[in-house]
Amino acid sequence: MSVTVTTLKKMKDAGDKITWLTAYDYSFANLVDEAGVDAILVGDSLGMVMQGHETPVPVTMEDSIYHTQCVARGSSNSMIVGDLPFGSYQVSKEQAYENAVRLMQAGAHTIKLEGGELQVETIKFLVERGIAVCAHIGLTPQSVHQLGGFKIQGRGAAAKQLLEDAIGVEQAGAFGVVLEAIPQDLAAEITERLSIPTIGIGAGPKCDGQVLVLQDMLGIYPKKSPKFSKNYMAAADTIKGAVQNYVSEVKGGAFPAAEHSFD
Ligand code: KIV
Repeated sequence: MSVTVTTLKKMKDAGDKITWLTAYDYSFANLVDEAGVDAILVGDSLGMVMQGHETPVPVTMEDSIYHTQCVARGSSNSMIVGDLPFGSYQVSKEQAYENAVRLMQAGAHTIKLEGGELQVETIKFLVERGIAVCAHIGLTPQSVHQLGGFKIQGRGAAAKQLLEDAIGVEQAGAFGVVLEAIPQDLAAEITERLSIPTIGIGAGPKCDGQVLVLQDMLGIYPKKSPKFSKNYMAAADTIKGAVQNYVSEVKGGAFPAAEHSFD
């Protein structure tokens, strides 16, 4: 690993855009790493794009550990973000700690969990014990059944809660926050208010960085990809070329464009 949480913070401060991409196996991790992506998220989206489930809810700790181990063998430069799956951190902060340790022992450098203010005590507990934590707010796919589907979050009165969530996780010590499927103006305001990096997915161009699901951006997911993704294979000859184009479009501010963002 040569990209660290310190690198990401410096990039935010310098106004350099941060690139994240998901990967779940050795070969793609190697390709994504060599294409210059700053961080590889071993997301629980693996439940959908690798396992064929409708949601990430069925993903287990054993699944996350297995895919994190595969990615760790393929990547040498990118920071690896392990994703705590549904049910692996909500019972208690001790449960979260034990499972975060398992992901880190599998090769993750940092971990991600879903939730804002409700996860503040857990984030503090992990950070105090040496774990770098990224929060994930807005559309939190593990709560898809509670949210009533994969829907835009944070419109109208709900914006205030999202801003409080973002401030809460920063104060708890999170090194970053993923903003998923929220209005671009709200994401811009959160990005402005926080000193930690925001990583957007369907959150507009003003975030400090962007993340996409690899299978969506390669156009190989057989089901419908979200509006906020872009098929980079459409204009590339090779998979590595597609990933390099994603990196250069994020760095140059061309992605996400208006059609990938929400008002
Ligand atoms: O699991 C995942 O891939 C994610 C991204 C959508 C941010 O959480």
